[in-house]
Amino acid sequence: MSAKGDAGSVLILGATSGIGKAVARRWAMDKADLILAARDTAEAERTAADLRVRYGAKARVVEFDALKFKSFEQFANGYFTDGCQLAGVVLCYGFMADQIEAQKNPEAARKTIDTNFTSPMLLMEQFAAQFEKIRSGFICAVSSVAGDRGRQSNYIYGSSKAALDTYLEGLRVRLFKSDVHVVTVKPGFVDTAMTWGLPGLFLVAKPEKVADDMWKAVRHRRNKIYTPWFWRYIMLIIRSIPQVIFKRMKL
Ligand SMILES: NC(=O)c1ccc[n+]([C@@H]2O[C@H](COP(=O)([O-])OP(=O)(O)OC[C@H]3O[C@@H](n4cnc5c(N)ncnc54)[C@H](OP(=O)(O)O)[C@@H]3O)[C@@H](O)[C@H]2O)c1
Repeated sequence: MSAKGDAGSVLILGATSGIGKAVARRWAMDKADLILAARDTAEAERTAADLRVRYGAKARVVEFDALKFKSFEQFANGYFTDGCQLAGVVLCYGFMADQIEAQKNPEAARKTIDTNFTSPMLLMEQFAAQFEKIRSGFICAVSSVAGDRGRQSNYIYGSSKAALDTYLEGLRVRLFKSDVHVVTVKPGFVDTAMTWGLPGLFLVAKPEKVADDMWKAVRHRRNKIYTPWFWRYIMLIIRSIPQVIFKRMKL
């Protein structure tokens, strides 16, 4: 299987994100037909035009709001009508409220959980049912290393990603027998709008590196990747710190 899937288009959800734009470029280099889904369609159109000129890619834009849950059934089913086949979905949207703001403001906390977990879960259920029927397809979703441990500086965002990880793992097991593959992507810090100006960042990766790792993970049917690779070992160490020490740390 190529990283496009067996046939059909690749749908990028959250195509205006820093990682989403790099993903679109990486899949365009592989000559995939792309559907760029975003709420800022003007920005997505600029990316699509660039992909057409730079790579000769087929790229079109669709409007998508990740918090309009009631639209999901119709949105997903539209890609499985006659004459339309989807090879796979790459989920790149997300939201990170400032931790202190999320502690004080339940709406900010809820937006974090809804954007990073409720929305992907409800939407991927729709795509999963369709991929299951055609017995092909892939789902590649961006989670985060933040889901590996509850840190006081970021635990509301982190818990939304931990829930996403567990959901994707269960989905992977369910879809395995239908030959539909699910990839969980766990980046460390990435140089995008989400992290601009944040203090204490280290080993910050380029979105292009993350996108290339994601493309390879789909191609090689990997289950879960850390990107760049060294985050697997950093998080192994962080996960192994006992609670008695962890709760005294300023992480
Ligand atoms: N940057 C990092 O260090 C890092 C590390 C680990 C994981 N991640 C994850 O990587 C993914 C991509 O983030 P990024 O770093 O590329 O940040 P980003 O550039 O800030 O992208 C966030 C994207 O999410 C979209 N979005 C948010 N709410 C939405 C909604 N209701 N409907 C549709 N789109 C919505 C935004 O759309 P608009 O353009 O319309 O605002 C934007 O395209 C996220 O899941 C993030 O949690 C990032």
